[in-house]
Amino acid sequence: MRSADLIIKNAHMLTVSPQWEIKNGCIAVRGETIIDVFSGKNDRYQAAKTIDANAKLVLPGFVDCHTHLVHAGSRANELQLRLQGMSYQEIQKKGGGIYASVTATRAASPEALFQESLRRAELCLKHGTTTAEIKTGYGLDPETEKKMLDIIHRLNHESDLETVATFLGPHVYPPDSEPDTYMDWLLHDGLELARKDAEFVDIYCDIGAYTFEDTERFLNAAKARGIPLKIHAGQFASLGATGLAADLGAVSADHLDKVGDAEFESMLRAGTVPVFLPGCSFYLNTEYPDARPWLDAGMPVALATDYNPGTCPSLSLPMMMSLAVMHMGFTPEEALKAATLNAAKALKRNHLIGSLEKGKQADILICEVNELDDLIAMFGGNMIGTTVKKGLLLLHRSSPGIQ
Ligand code: NIG
Ligand code: FE
Repeated sequence: MRSADLIIKNAHMLTVSPQWEIKNGCIAVRGETIIDVFSGKNDRYQAAKTIDANAKLVLPGFVDCHTHLVHAGSRANELQLRLQGMSYQEIQKKGGGIYASVTATRAASPEALFQESLRRAELCLKHGTTTAEIKTGYGLDPETEKKMLDIIHRLNHESDLETVATFLGPHVYPPDSEPDTYMDWLLHDGLELARKDAEFVDIYCDIGAYTFEDTERFLNAAKARGIPLKIHAGQFASLGATGLAADLGAVSADHLDKVGDAEFESMLRAGTVPVFLPGCSFYLNTEYPDARPWLDAGMPVALATDYNPGTCPSLSLPMMMSLAVMHMGFTPEEALKAATLNAAKALKRNHLIGSLEKGKQADILICEVNELDDLIAMFGGNMIGTTVKKGLLLLHRSSPGIQ
């Protein structure tokens, strides 16, 4: 018998690897790593701790590849304004929307902003998210953009959530300085900050946000510095930036509610990961895009929450999976892969996370249901019982038969 730190036995595993399903199996963990995944009883390992999953569904930890988790303040009031007929853009023009979050985030002390963000990181883990990408973009000035990056890194070290930092300095044009002055900072010192402190850069190109021309300048300058690219495009209108980003080799293009045929072809050619964000369609009450053509083309389609205070104040990836199945043409299996392995691909971490395979990080969920269909069906509930992050057992609700 070999030794392991943790064995999860009697598991109904969906591995999100080619093997896909093991009805009654075991996972062995040593340190931060999965050292074995096999079917049947455990006759291989002497383990310091064994968990009997009691035939419950066992999944890889969810990967949320697009969030705006660090911000101060609530914008729940905007829901009522929108229901009374004001559009997202009109709210922003009146100094609300992203600008309301910018004002609050600038005013918050680093410690207060960290504490507020930490509570959300803990909520992510409770809902089964073990890795989250987090964007800046509620600073729109050098000092606050840096403050946000520092908090994203602090969360990585001081919470159990693994975080990935993306520099979204070009979220919208700042309310209090000339667009050209800010663009100048973005193209030089901003990108230098991103190169040092972030894994990706992102830009929001849409009506009410960055123009196509500024997007082109920013993405080209970022590429010249060797920083991997992401883009927010096609949420409200297609300005052509999705195709541009794909042609520049962007890792992912996110939103994709409005995308032209040529842009679709560019993404297919470039292998850019399409990231769908159904929580925005739900919360803004807008039409859901059809993901079927993207899935049928064999693209590594990903799902994310886009957690933010204005267009999706939800951190639940299972909820996004339910919406994707209900409204966007995903099968439950495609939704699971989109929230795990393909999301990891959108973060260039698919060699480390996103599936239950020997050698990968031990990021494991034990659900409170037996079947994936149940997880999808029970929308809005939290069916995650136990979250394991890098081999560390985080118990949240039930503790199924710890021995
Ligand atoms: O991804 N659309 C642009 N940015 C965010 C919304 C941010 C906000 O409203 O605070 C998004 O949906
Ligand atoms: Fe977003």
